[in-house]
Formats: sequence, structure tokens, C-alpha cells
Amino acid sequence: MTGLIKEIMPQHVAIIMDGNGRWAKEHGVPRVAGHRAGMESMKKIVDHSDKLGIKHLTVYAFSTENWKRSTEEVRGIFKLLVTFVNRDLRELIKNNVCVKILGDFSSIPEDSKKALEKTIEDTKNNKGLQFNIALNYGSRDEIRRSVETIAHKVKAGELEPSDISEDVISEYLWTGNMHADCPDPELIIRTSGEQRLSNFLLWQAAYSELVFSDALWPDFSTEEYERCIAEYQSRDRRFGGR
Ligand code: FPP
Repeated sequence: MTGLIKEIMPQHVAIIMDGNGRWAKEHGVPRVAGHRAGMESMKKIVDHSDKLGIKHLTVYAFSTENWKRSTEEVRGIFKLLVTFVNRDLRELIKNNVCVKILGDFSSIPEDSKKALEKTIEDTKNNKGLQFNIALNYGSRDEIRRSVETIAHKVKAGELEPSDISEDVISEYLWTGNMHADCPDPELIIRTSGEQRLSNFLLWQAAYSELVFSDALWPDFSTEEYERCIAEYQSRDRRFGGR
């Protein structure tokens, strides 16, 4: 952890793991092989986040828009997810990692769903790193769902329109205290040189620092991760104040 300041370590880091496809192209291998390399990178970053004392890590694994990809690629990503949880579950439990899913994963392939449900159940009491996997996740969809839940509550007379505060809207997001229950990310990292949020944590990103890395996700090393955190630590965060 060379050069990082422990006292201002972000509590919640969110990552857009981009560039698996380009990595595969560069190496002359199928796109799914790029995602497999991406999965190994993800595992490394989970372990390193824990070592750095980060409390919550969120990764964007599959968006509501990713269904547009070929059936082969979509199947490949979900198979990798099963590989990841089955292969690494014991280690995650040993390391006290608690896995949560952000997104409606009821419509993903049955075997992936079962493996995930088991992982969530087996890790739910762990008090170490909270590892959120955003899966079938889209931030506009997330906000729409929160608004729908609130509208039902107003209709049922459980809530007055004037009760709808920012906190109430946050509460019903996937990150809210009805679900994953984690603070807004102080730092959002996107790899592969792209500089946009792509429907990721739009509400939660209001005051997040955005750090972009040119590394393709499978090449994203722990050194590059620390560089991104160091860049975050060097920023002057004012939250609209002076
Ligand atoms: C973006 O790269 C990556 C994804 C859409 C999927 C992320 C998936 C993994 C890291 C695989 C492992 C994850 C789990 C949860 C098992 P891209 O395909 O958009 O890359 P490109 O922009 O270079 O084409």
C-alpha cells in the first residue's frame, strides 16, 4: 500500500470493468476468453480491496443493456459467474466477504441464479468486505423501481407526498437500506479509457470522484488500482461547499 493514506481510504469503491472485448481482440482469442481474464482480474481486486481496508466494493458485471450481446457471449458471462462463485466461495467465506447482488437477477439462467442465491445465503453474516455485483443492473431502472415502490406507498396511505425526501428515494434503490445497504461510493473507477457512467449508480454518483484508467480490465493490476485510489486521495472534495 505504498503512498496511500489509511485515514482517507474510500469506504465504497465502484468499478466499471471495461475492456474485456478489446483485450480478447488484442490477444486473438474469443470475447468470452476476455471475460474469463476479466473474472481473474475481478478476483484479484476483491482480495486487494479487502487488504486495503475498503468496506464496500461494487462491480458492474452485467447491465440491463448487455442482453443485446450475442447469446454465446451472454451465456459465457453467466457461466463465468457460476465458475467464480463455485470456485471461490470457500475462500470468500474464509475471508469474511459478504456478497450482494444489485439488480433484478430473477431472469438470469437458472443455474447461475441458484449458485448466486447460495453464495448470498452462505456469506450473509460475514462482516468483512461487502462485495456487490451489479447484475442485470441499470440505474434508470433502479430509480424507476424506487419511484414505483414509493408511489404504491403513497397510494396505500403509508406515505405523504411531502415525505418523499432524497433519503426516501435512496432507501428503495438497490444500494438502499432495504437491500444492499451501503453508502454512496466516494470513488468510481472506469477502465479502458472510456469516460462515461453508462447507466451505473447515477443517483449514488452525485458526489463521487471519477477516476479513469487506460488499462483494459483484464490488465488492471493492483498497482494501477492503488494509483487510482491515490488519485482520489489527492482530490479536493468540497461537496458543493467552498
Ligand atoms: C465490459 O467489457 C465487461 C462486461 C460487459 C462484463 C464484465 C464481466 C466480467 C468482468 C466477467 C466476470 C464477471 C463475473 C461477475 C463473473 P466489454 O466486453 O464491454 O469490452 P469492450 O468494450 O472492450 O468490448
